[in-house]
Amino acid sequence: MNNRGNFGSRIGLVLATAGSAVGLGNIWRFPFTTGQNGGAAFIIIYIICILMLGLPGMISEFIIGRHAATNAVRAYGVISGKRVWRVVGVMGILCSTIILGFYSVVAGWCLQYLYASVAGQIKGDSSYVARYFTEFSSDIAMPVVWAMVFIIITHFVIVKGVRKGIEKASKLMMPTLFVLLLIIVAASCMLPNAISGIKFLFYPDFSKLSSNVMLEALGQAFFSLSLGTACLCTYSSYFSKRTNLVNAALQIALIDTLIAVLAGLMIFPAAFSVGVKPDAGPSLIFITLPNVFQQAFASMPLVGYVISILFYALLALAALTSTISMHEIGTAFFHEELKRPRRHAAWIVTITAIMIAIVSSLSCGAYPQLTVFGMSMMDFFDFLTANILLPAGALLTCIYVGWVVPRSTVMTEFTNRHTVCIRLFPAFLFMVRFVCPICITLVFLHQFGIV
Ligand code: TRP
Repeated sequence: MNNRGNFGSRIGLVLATAGSAVGLGNIWRFPFTTGQNGGAAFIIIYIICILMLGLPGMISEFIIGRHAATNAVRAYGVISGKRVWRVVGVMGILCSTIILGFYSVVAGWCLQYLYASVAGQIKGDSSYVARYFTEFSSDIAMPVVWAMVFIIITHFVIVKGVRKGIEKASKLMMPTLFVLLLIIVAASCMLPNAISGIKFLFYPDFSKLSSNVMLEALGQAFFSLSLGTACLCTYSSYFSKRTNLVNAALQIALIDTLIAVLAGLMIFPAAFSVGVKPDAGPSLIFITLPNVFQQAFASMPLVGYVISILFYALLALAALTSTISMHEIGTAFFHEELKRPRRHAAWIVTITAIMIAIVSSLSCGAYPQLTVFGMSMMDFFDFLTANILLPAGALLTCIYVGWVVPRSTVMTEFTNRHTVCIRLFPAFLFMVRFVCPICITLVFLHQFGIV
């Protein structure tokens, strides 16, 4: 595997992996889950989850990926010599391709809204905006077309390879994303009464805490860090042997959390300034926000127009750096295992994802009868991945690194051959052996009402 791709620079590696982490999870899912779960109190629990479970999980995937320097399936088999563990890699590929499918539907909605913002179409009272969303998302053709456009764009970045595709795109898109975010945060925080939104975000009301909130926070933390689907394991297979894994994980988690909090600072002040409650759930950014932007900037329509365009461009960019990472997991696998050129391997993933996208999109409106266990296909895929496959993948990864992989291998990778972070190693081992598996299992069982 000498001629495998790799990241060309440390900054490229951090931006690419942070690009995977930063996505709709931060800018769409985080604000609406925070809105539904009481604001600051939720954020505190979320940060605890990131520190206690997210970081060790992330480092574990890094250890497996970098040590094996191969695709996810082979990596899980090779590092301990026990082939049954390859199943975790297979699960990861399955899970990330499913996520790629339905995630692209939402990303496609962002493209439509970007287009509609430029064309000035989303203007009118709140019932009009709500109708606009329902009519668009239940259309047969358009949402599917946008989702396909999104997957195809992802495809072409992936085909270019690790350095010229993934790394280059991330180096360009991540700083752009950050600047866009700062502009909108500034505009939002300057609105009258923005302060009540800022309070909601930073003053915790612990009476809102319940075990359900913890569950939400954990799920959100894993999803946001791209944990549990071998995504980080695949990216770290392109890391250099000199990369300090602990540092890299810390930086990526920090960027990811910072961007999520900034997304909150962008949405809540604007919403509170016009007296709108941010607890609408998934439709927050497609129904609530267009209204909020219109009302908040009613006296400066041009600012409102520009902000709306920048906002949906921001969402699309964030989504793209993430879909790239989901795509890469499967592509790397088919490329290396079927010994086909990268572009053939990429088509396998692209076509599968498009099929999943079509089913998900149609189940959202045009064919509501497309259901499994009483859920629409979209909700089912979301449930299957975020609530089952993702925690299961993270749990197995921790058990694997904690108990199955030889301790010396784990230590060598963690400390870069005994040169860095040596004193942190026992704490890390304790976390992945005991704390993470126990916490993840508890949360996992809790959602089925078992504990
Ligand atoms: N972390 C991304 C987000 O916050 C989503 C994502 C990218 C992801 N790759 C993943 C989620 C792999 C699970 C698994 O939007």
